[in-house]
Amino acid sequence: MSTQYPQTRLRRNRFNAFSRNLVRETTLSPHDFIYPVFIIDGENQKQPIESMPGQYRVSLDNLLILAKELIDLDIPAIALFPNIDNSVKTPQGEQAFNPLGLIPKAVRILKKHYPELGVICDGALDPYTSHGQDGIIDGKGYVLNDITIDALCKQAVVCAQAGADVIAPSDMMDGRVGEIRKALDANNFINTQILAYSAKYASHYYGPFRDAVGSSSQLGKADKQTYQMDPANTDEALKEVDMDIAEGADMVMVKPAMPYLDIIYRVKQTFKTPTFAYQVSGEYAMQKMAIDAGVLSSDTILESLMAIKRAGADGILTYFAIDAAKALSKK
Ligand code: PBG
Repeated sequence: MSTQYPQTRLRRNRFNAFSRNLVRETTLSPHDFIYPVFIIDGENQKQPIESMPGQYRVSLDNLLILAKELIDLDIPAIALFPNIDNSVKTPQGEQAFNPLGLIPKAVRILKKHYPELGVICDGALDPYTSHGQDGIIDGKGYVLNDITIDALCKQAVVCAQAGADVIAPSDMMDGRVGEIRKALDANNFINTQILAYSAKYASHYYGPFRDAVGSSSQLGKADKQTYQMDPANTDEALKEVDMDIAEGADMVMVKPAMPYLDIIYRVKQTFKTPTFAYQVSGEYAMQKMAIDAGVLSSDTILESLMAIKRAGADGILTYFAIDAAKALSKK
């Protein structure tokens, strides 16, 4: 194939808007978005999250208002993250599988009022542990794989019992997808999906999230490098995805998103399976703060989401879901 000027003028297709619309390869729709939301106990609560301007921790009454907004905007699903009081956090994070806990309560109320909205529950212990790690630790602070999986299975079943459509293990323990699948099936939740955080990196872009769920002070100077992936690696991401698919993951995820577009691309090209990406709290914060400061145009929101989709993501978890859906409806 040889393409030469002046026979070929690539600008010809770009000349008119109708033509740009016709030749566009990637499109965005509200159906591509999942909105992650932080929830708290209480009534009529809407606490601003300082490190994530425009995002709030909401109580369940306000969660219902938000759910209605998502449905009206055609956003298919919500991902729930709890911020619970430090006084109920424990070394083993038992609140994670309390059937009367905040998350199961939220799922029940959402499903009662808006059954059509997909509800995704996180699988990990960090919002519930007194040390802020995603799993149960030994005396040296090392996260123990297999007993953590037992807790994650209980958590998954409790969420499914409450009515969750999707369990999304974000903990990065080896083998957890298979065990969660077995636990769900053993309890007759054969249609509860698993969205695996498969290639989840030990990223500093999660900082604002840890403020939002209130795990950063618990975590202190500790990190998650013994279970989350090294940002330097790519082949390992493919192994992680391969294992999760083999263990029964219905959908896989790469996280963070924009600094890891190469990983999204390789995962989609290699496995051709439903692939999601998480535009994480730090990606949101830096863009949002730059927009609020007048340094960037808010059009960068759709551009960033488009880039993630172009790389191979079928859907995106993004705190911009509502802004982006509104922006799309104006186009
Ligand atoms: C914890 C979890 C994290 C995020 C989702 N689930 C943070 C972490 O691993 O420390 C990050 C999301 C974000 O930054 O927006 N299991």
